[in-house]
Amino acid sequence: MKKGKILLVGFGPGAPEHMSQRARDAIAEADVVIGYSTYIKLVQDLLDGKEVIRKGMTEELDRSIEAYEQARQGKTVALVSSGDIGVYGMAGPTYEVLFQSGWTRDSDITVEVVPGATALNACAALVGAPLTHDFCSISLSDLLTPWPTIARRLEAAARGDFVIALYNPKSGRRTGQIVEAQRILLLHRRPDTPVAIVKSGYRRRQAIQMTTLAQMADCEIGMLCTVLIGNSSTFVREGLMVTPRGYANKYDTLTGEAKHGEQAGRSLTMGLTGWHACVRRHLRETPEANLRDAAAHFDAPLGEILAAVVEAQPGDEAGAMQARLVATEHLDTLFTAAQNWGQIRAVVRSEAAIAEILLQAKDLTRKGQWLNLVNEHCHLHVDTGRIASAWFFSHDGQQHGVYLIDANGGLIASLLLVKVGDHFNQQTLDSFRKASEQLGQLIDTGEDIEAEEECSDE
Ligand SMILES: C[S@@+](CC[C@H](N)C(=O)[O-])C[C@H]1O[C@@H](n2cnc3c(N)ncnc32)[C@H](O)[C@@H]1O
Repeated sequence: MKKGKILLVGFGPGAPEHMSQRARDAIAEADVVIGYSTYIKLVQDLLDGKEVIRKGMTEELDRSIEAYEQARQGKTVALVSSGDIGVYGMAGPTYEVLFQSGWTRDSDITVEVVPGATALNACAALVGAPLTHDFCSISLSDLLTPWPTIARRLEAAARGDFVIALYNPKSGRRTGQIVEAQRILLLHRRPDTPVAIVKSGYRRRQAIQMTTLAQMADCEIGMLCTVLIGNSSTFVREGLMVTPRGYANKYDTLTGEAKHGEQAGRSLTMGLTGWHACVRRHLRETPEANLRDAAAHFDAPLGEILAAVVEAQPGDEAGAMQARLVATEHLDTLFTAAQNWGQIRAVVRSEAAIAEILLQAKDLTRKGQWLNLVNEHCHLHVDTGRIASAWFFSHDGQQHGVYLIDANGGLIASLLLVKVGDHFNQQTLDSFRKASEQLGQLIDTGEDIEAEEECSDE
């Protein structure tokens, strides 16, 4: 019997001239064409002499099962979808049906996925160049995805400053999702952020609305629309939505010359290997900045600022800041040492609240993986299992303490020495410095031992 074949065909946004040659050939090759009735209409001209199976909107799995059944009979089947069939389309469900039926790549049915221009490409092209930098797509359909998952993705995309394409933004029944999406995005993005709403791109009833994030949910939006939301640099000019690629970070846009300190073909000075040096320069040039100011300035976690400070060298200081990293295996030694620091101030922050607890360092105890700071007025329990790094930190002789940092670089708590009058107690300061030097040396010694071991292998 003839081998069956399933062609999973994305035919682009809808206009024939935007369909790829391979999509056209795949449909021509098929004995049977299966698809949602609207999609079948869009490729009607290519269907002469073919068996056509139209399915309704909610019959997605039926389309995949039908394709499999037809291919088992040795037929060539084209399962068609608008845009790219792998983007919120039938490619995934079809593979799932095939795998459930025991299909393997060596089976009697061959499968080919034919890519197409997805709605976000098509809609972007119609409104300018909004996707020229990092972007993501999020479907607002909660028919198969729980809302908390969608909300979490919206929040992450907004926080990450991605340009966002919203698929399935609204339907007759699903009207609240776009309003909720707007609320979440506005927590992180300016109300005047440019937004383009494209309905039926490259189809007969194409319509485009240019608006802002603040107005977005009041616009006419339906299930034939894709919504494109700019990032913090996206602008609108001549009615076109453009997201800069970032050339202005490196080149003078008038002369084309690389800016001071930048080189063509090389990472930016603010690239992976250079940006800690930029943090140190900022700290030298802004002596009044504290750790949190610097973290806010670079939109980076506090742990990264501490890492930049610890890399300071003579001639490349971090202003008046000094830091030393303590390996987590030395946390116990660190907490034991801290018991000699007289009175300490334990500080815990959330975005909206700060707790500052004054207590005697001797009240600092360990129980299992908990670090307990307890006196008759307050209890603070820190899960040491969450501490990814601990740092001795001093700033301009005015602040000395230890910062406990989590795996994301976020601050768990800081333990700061407390002045007596205008000065730190000399004995306490000596004890702090001694611990800082000893624990720092422990790390250095460890690295040296490793290096020696490596050499002795030769
Ligand atoms: C189930 S998804 C299918 C996506 C499709 N596979 C693609 O790659 O474009 C349906 C959603 O895609 C978007 N969409 C598809 N075609 C579009 C077009 N021509 N214009 C605007 N949006 C479109 C809309 O957001 C719609 O709700």
